[in-house]
Amino acid sequence: MADQNQWWRDAVIYQIYPRSFADADGDGVGDIDGIRAHLHHLRDLGVDAIWMSPWYPSPMADAGYDVADFRDIDPVFGTLAGAEALITEAHEAGIRMIVDIVPNHISSAHPWFKAALADPSAKEREYFWFRPGTEMPTSWTGEFGGTTWTQTPDGSWYLHLFTPEQPDLNWEHPDVRAEFESILRFWFDRGVDGIRIDSAALLLKDTTFPEVVDGQPHPFHDLDGVHDVYRAWRRVADEYDDRALIGEVWMPEVDRFARYLRPDELHAAFNFDFLGCAWDPTLMRECIDRTLDAHATIGAPPTWVLSNHDVTRHVTRYGREKTTFSFEENLDGTPVDLELGTRRARAAALLSLSLPGSAYVYQGDELGLWENENIPPEEFADPMWGRRGHSRDGCRVPLPWSGDEQPFGFSTGTPWLPQPAEWKDRTVQAQTGDPSSMLELYRAAIHLRRREEGLHRSTMAWLDAAPGVLAYTRGPGFASVLNMSGAPVPLPDHHSCLLASGPLDGTLLPPDTAVWLRLHPGK
Ligand code: NOJ
Repeated sequence: MADQNQWWRDAVIYQIYPRSFADADGDGVGDIDGIRAHLHHLRDLGVDAIWMSPWYPSPMADAGYDVADFRDIDPVFGTLAGAEALITEAHEAGIRMIVDIVPNHISSAHPWFKAALADPSAKEREYFWFRPGTEMPTSWTGEFGGTTWTQTPDGSWYLHLFTPEQPDLNWEHPDVRAEFESILRFWFDRGVDGIRIDSAALLLKDTTFPEVVDGQPHPFHDLDGVHDVYRAWRRVADEYDDRALIGEVWMPEVDRFARYLRPDELHAAFNFDFLGCAWDPTLMRECIDRTLDAHATIGAPPTWVLSNHDVTRHVTRYGREKTTFSFEENLDGTPVDLELGTRRARAAALLSLSLPGSAYVYQGDELGLWENENIPPEEFADPMWGRRGHSRDGCRVPLPWSGDEQPFGFSTGTPWLPQPAEWKDRTVQAQTGDPSSMLELYRAAIHLRRREEGLHRSTMAWLDAAPGVLAYTRGPGFASVLNMSGAPVPLPDHHSCLLASGPLDGTLLPPDTAVWLRLHPGK
């Protein structure tokens, strides 16, 4: 039954961050009805699937990644009936739906945790990591910085790798495993086509709770036992037709990363190596080769991700002197050349959409949005701010749809985060029909990708090219060329130019520009 069409192998997947997509009820926060009213934007863009960041009931201690009930929808976003209607309408528009499941932790407002706190002898106590003692059980640093244990009124400690409002679940417990398999079925039964798995490598803990020591196995990153969880999830997914499991696996070691994609585990995982890579031809080519090699060994499709709701938007990153991304190095407030960043982001769009595998578009990438680095700190909602001195809110700003001033058609109220005034040129309305806009570039590229056979499942082959130029074929008749050198370069021999990320200079390809070429007449 499973793996008939394997749509995830070459899909273009659009991430919706529901708080910031479109607000139908005027409270300043995006919602499901807002998404339903703007589905045509995604249909026009031509994406194959939507990945919906969490929409479940939540106290929003971490913008919904603190889930209080996986089988319902937070009232700020709408209702379960609305979610079901969206799934149906998306399917009618030819768009698949992926929901976000957060298995490492739940909200401290979830009934399990409330029961565990209320009665130390409750069975739910075992669903978490409670430890007695006057001292904190370990001195681990949390994923947002800070400590990982909070003391309860009865004197015991509970583990949370993120905020205290996100207690970690005990994945050794069979009830926890059974519950999540049931949650997967709940959403598969409602027709969702895929599951994005949050913090996928963190679920298992070393139950002796050792300290983190260099050179020793890490006590909570990537423990071997986590693979049994995903083998069980894969069995659930395989009970249905063509459903995909997509892991958020942040892992510098590609061989460890690839283990999540073995044939009986996840179908795909996000490529953070590519996302964090510098705008540098040597490093980018190495990253692409590393990615292709790692996936080839296990037959899994690579993914190409430029931005998401956790990282600085790539228009901003690529416009800085230092173009890498990592949580360890805070580059907030360093000078940004937005024109340069935009030019590179346009070229990166053609790169990411022409490599073999699936490509991700984070809402607003298609509008060329940049990071809003001017949000007053008192308006930050992100719990990372205050722990790491960096807020992810700058990439979570509500989308500009139309009009000349805030809220740019996002809402009839005040958006939950401020939008830059300059986004009047970045609205969907302003860009539609303007052939030089980012939106029209994305539309053209995604539609071409659909039509172009070479861009489906064929492999790629590097072409000889001048230093600083990444050139490759997809199938016999199609080539993609990206000039990352500082100077114009001649285009390789070709029949016609299908799409360019910026104006060509006669027969020369200017710096930070990409082009898709037809190599021979006909196809
Ligand atoms: C990864 C999510 O993408 C991020 O937004 C969240 O804060 C953490 N996991 C914790 O759930």
